[in-house]
Amino acid sequence: MLETLTPTNGHHHRRWVPSTITFLSTHKTLLIAFWMVFFFTVFYSQRDASPRGLLIFRRAFPPPRQLPKLRPVAFNLTDFGGVGDGVTLNTAAFERAVTAISKLRKKGGGQLNVPPGYWLTAPFNLTSHMTLFLAEGAVILGIDDEKYWPLMPPLPSYGYGRERPGPRYGSLIHGQNLKDVVITGHNGTINGQGQTWWKKYRQKLLNHTRGPLVQIMWSSDIVISNITLRNSPFWTVHPYDCKNVTMKNLTILAPIFDAPNTDGIDPDSCEDMVIEDCYISVGDDGVAIKSGWDQYGITYGKPSKNILIRNLIVRSNVSAGVSIGSEMSGGVSNVIVENIHVWNSRRAVRIKTAPGRGGFVQNITYRNLTFDNVRVGIVIKTDYNEHPDEGFDPKAAPILENISYSTVHGEGVRVPVRIHGSEEIPLRNITFRDMSIGITYKKKHIFQCAFVQGRVIGSIFPAPCDNLDLYDEQGRLVRRSTSQNISDIDYDF
Ligand SMILES: *[C@@H]1O[C@H](CO)[C@@H](O)[C@H](O)[C@H]1NC(C)=O
Ligand SMILES: *[C@@H]1O[C@H](CO)[C@@H](O)[C@H](O)[C@H]1NC(C)=O
Ligand SMILES: *[C@@H]1O[C@H](CO)[C@@H](O)[C@H](O)[C@H]1NC(C)=O
Ligand SMILES: *[C@@H]1O[C@H](CO)[C@@H](O)[C@H](O)[C@H]1NC(C)=O
Ligand SMILES: *[C@@H]1O[C@H](CO)[C@@H](O)[C@H](O)[C@H]1NC(C)=O
Ligand SMILES: *[C@@H]1O[C@H](CO)[C@@H](O)[C@H](O)[C@H]1NC(C)=O
Ligand SMILES: *[C@@H]1O[C@H](CO)[C@@H](O)[C@H](O)[C@H]1NC(C)=O
Ligand SMILES: *[C@@H]1O[C@H](CO)[C@@H](O)[C@H](O)[C@H]1NC(C)=O
Ligand SMILES: *[C@@H]1O[C@H](CO)[C@@H](O)[C@H](O)[C@H]1NC(C)=O
Ligand SMILES: *[C@@H]1O[C@H](CO)[C@@H](O)[C@H](O)[C@H]1NC(C)=O
Ligand SMILES: *[C@@H]1O[C@H](CO)[C@@H](O)[C@H](O)[C@H]1NC(C)=O
Ligand SMILES: *[C@@H]1O[C@H](CO)[C@@H](O)[C@H](O)[C@H]1NC(C)=O
Repeated sequence: MLETLTPTNGHHHRRWVPSTITFLSTHKTLLIAFWMVFFFTVFYSQRDASPRGLLIFRRAFPPPRQLPKLRPVAFNLTDFGGVGDGVTLNTAAFERAVTAISKLRKKGGGQLNVPPGYWLTAPFNLTSHMTLFLAEGAVILGIDDEKYWPLMPPLPSYGYGRERPGPRYGSLIHGQNLKDVVITGHNGTINGQGQTWWKKYRQKLLNHTRGPLVQIMWSSDIVISNITLRNSPFWTVHPYDCKNVTMKNLTILAPIFDAPNTDGIDPDSCEDMVIEDCYISVGDDGVAIKSGWDQYGITYGKPSKNILIRNLIVRSNVSAGVSIGSEMSGGVSNVIVENIHVWNSRRAVRIKTAPGRGGFVQNITYRNLTFDNVRVGIVIKTDYNEHPDEGFDPKAAPILENISYSTVHGEGVRVPVRIHGSEEIPLRNITFRDMSIGITYKKKHIFQCAFVQGRVIGSIFPAPCDNLDLYDEQGRLVRRSTSQNISDIDYDF
């Protein structure tokens, strides 16, 4: 709670200075020290005439930023009785606002402005043709008492709540069967107050799967941009079976460990989607493309396809920067992942699947990846044996093919490549080109392969495993591999 009530964005000086003074006035010595630091800072900022420093000095209270009008009609949450004191529950205010906007469908919809303040709420639904605009300093706080969270049926392609059988909690901000929804702002925040949920999850006190922060299902023309999302109880943003989705310029934060399953963005059975210009540092995968789980996902049969992911800075201490899977039973195809910087992470880019999943992972292009201090860089794992129930078909083998990695650079990487196919799930047509990764550990077992067919074009560092064919820069075959199925996988590295 303390953390969530401490403003952390650009306007912090206006709140921080007065409250700090009140606190320190009872401590005279500290007060003197404080003023010394304060004047020193002001002196310094004036001396080098930095505009930021002068701004702090002259105007401790910057005027509120004018909010753009993005729909014909704009409302203020306070028009519906909202109180931004961090204590009053605003669920009814949000619901009244959404109802009002739902009546403006024929007039181009409506915009709901959330002013600066702490707006505590239980889960609520969005409506079509709606823009939710979070002003600078606006924080939507999810109530952390599960009594207020409605239960929903499991997702059809999962059959299950994912971590618990039966129904699951809905998301804080939710939508189903919508069209034309925008969540944006001047970097306002949606804060899920996940700490309570993570703790209860670890202590096994929850009977149902935790809810995501934002979940939009069966919808199209969705934009989420220019805001911060933090401390989700579960996955942060979960578009499910949606079309035409843009996620741009988001900051997604959760503690880097002990924040279980706080994936950043999980496109799930989605098509025509762009994720770009985001900073993501979370307690699980930064991005994880999914399409349902084992027999339920195979039956639902809806792939994630035509997805462009670019210009991300991602940190994932426990999982991977950008993942595909492990639930991918509806298939994943035509994905481009480019200009990605992964730092201080366990893995950089990972495809994970298992026998029983079915589906496919095809036409995946990775280019211009930078790894900075990661344990394992490129990973394909085909034994991620986590199943919803005993009803999965162990013979349902996913197909993994047409996957290419080019322009991959890095420093401080322990195992640059671990592509682990198997007899049931061989990897086909995997291409490497233009790769140089600085390693931190031993020189053997750094390019690990098993059951993989593919090629290397030109020279790469570290030297590839023997499973791959070698081509020169002009695309002429230099050496054909005779040992595609041999295994040099070693999880001790
Ligand atoms: C938005 O707010 C987050 C969290 O406070 C901060 O890390 C990020 O730098 C801010 N983004 C911009 C563009 O100001
Ligand atoms: C919303 O209403 C409140 C209270 O009337 C006012 O202080 C604030 O400036 C308004 N904000 C916007 C964005 O209209
Ligand atoms: C949101 O809409 C869904 C689908 O119509 C419904 O099941 C759910 O109860 C609604 N949630 C809230 C909080 O009204
Ligand atoms: C990103 O969002 C911040 C506010 O969150 C805004 O100041 C900045 O201009 C945006 N950048 C782009 C490229 O849209
Ligand atoms: C979980 O179920 C048990 C047994 O039915 C019940 O005692 C407990 O209150 C439930 N916990 C929650 C958080 O709903
Ligand atoms: C995708 O959604 C955006 C934002 O709502 C919209 O402007 C655009 O027309 C949509 N594109 C298609 C092809 O429907
Ligand atoms: C993000 O914010 C910037 C600066 O306010 C604005 O120019 C841009 O249109 C916004 N982008 C989106 C996708 O909302
Ligand atoms: C490669 O990605 C980095 C960000 O990781 C970016 O700064 C650079 O411009 C990209 N290079 C190209 C050629 O797009
Ligand atoms: C994850 O965090 C722990 C604790 O800060 C640190 O010791 C470890 O090196 C981190 N792992 C990676 C891969 O950065
Ligand atoms: C992969 O890309 C090729 C060429 O663009 C296309 O013909 C094929 O249908 C794609 N495969 C899938 C599964 O989309
Ligand atoms: C692999 O790529 C080739 C060339 O783009 C295409 O013809 C083929 O259909 C792809 N295979 C699959 C399974 O998508
Ligand atoms: C292998 O995949 C690449 C793209 O990664 C594609 O261009 C090529 O045509 C594929 N080859 C075959 C034989 O499918």
